[in-house]
Amino acid sequence: MRSKIVAGNWKMNKTLSESKSLIKDIKKSINGLPLKNTRVIVAPTFVNLQKVSKKLKDSAIEVAAQNMHQEESGAYTGEISASMIKAVYVNMVILGHSERREYFNETDALLSKKVDTALKNKMEIIFCFGEVLEDRKNGDHFKVVERQIKNALFHLNSEAWKNIILAYEPVWAIGTGETASPEQAQEMHAFIRGLVAERYLSDVAEEVSILYGGSVKPANAKEIFSKEDVDGGLIGGAALNADDFTALIKAI
Ligand code: PGA
Repeated sequence: MRSKIVAGNWKMNKTLSESKSLIKDIKKSINGLPLKNTRVIVAPTFVNLQKVSKKLKDSAIEVAAQNMHQEESGAYTGEISASMIKAVYVNMVILGHSERREYFNETDALLSKKVDTALKNKMEIIFCFGEVLEDRKNGDHFKVVERQIKNALFHLNSEAWKNIILAYEPVWAIGTGETASPEQAQEMHAFIRGLVAERYLSDVAEEVSILYGGSVKPANAKEIFSKEDVDGGLIGGAALNADDFTALIKAI
């Protein structure tokens, strides 16, 4: 059975002391919750990764990095490698976030390399993709999402998909307060699962968790998470507050 997942992407927020206090609050408020088949993940900024991962060592909360360089090492000033992330006991990375694509020019071809490097280093990947508003207005959203997934992931074998979590994040809904309707999310998630089923065996499609991201908050989470092909959320703004984040975990 595929996992339900609530993942908090803290982006460029929270200093070390703020990060520590947030995880303390999250730990406290999820204490005693029956998490069953639900994975809870937080993704702090690189500089706080080690401390956060240490603090969460014996807890049910997992830690992910927000990005990673495609090369194993070398003269890439300011960059962080897979082995550096793994050395601080973090085995998961978010790749392809729309902010990386937009502000740092990350292309499908580059992301495909990052995916390979992460898998080679035995890391799990939360792979993000999604259309911009113009694509949706033009009716190109399915085409765009299909291209993003195919170009970065469809060279992988079925076995590799055990380490892939998909995150559909329509760019027009990220940080804007605008959310895809639960029906729009379900429609796209079912389309994505169908693509995976076409390319791989249907059990690969059935097992892959597909998260929705884009202005998920306590007020709308339950309805979105209730959709058949929505296996949880990748959360930005609402992950920065322990009460809101806990409410999302409870909504799943
Ligand atoms: P948001 O961000 O929840 O603030 O819209 C989601 C994301 O970018 O992952």
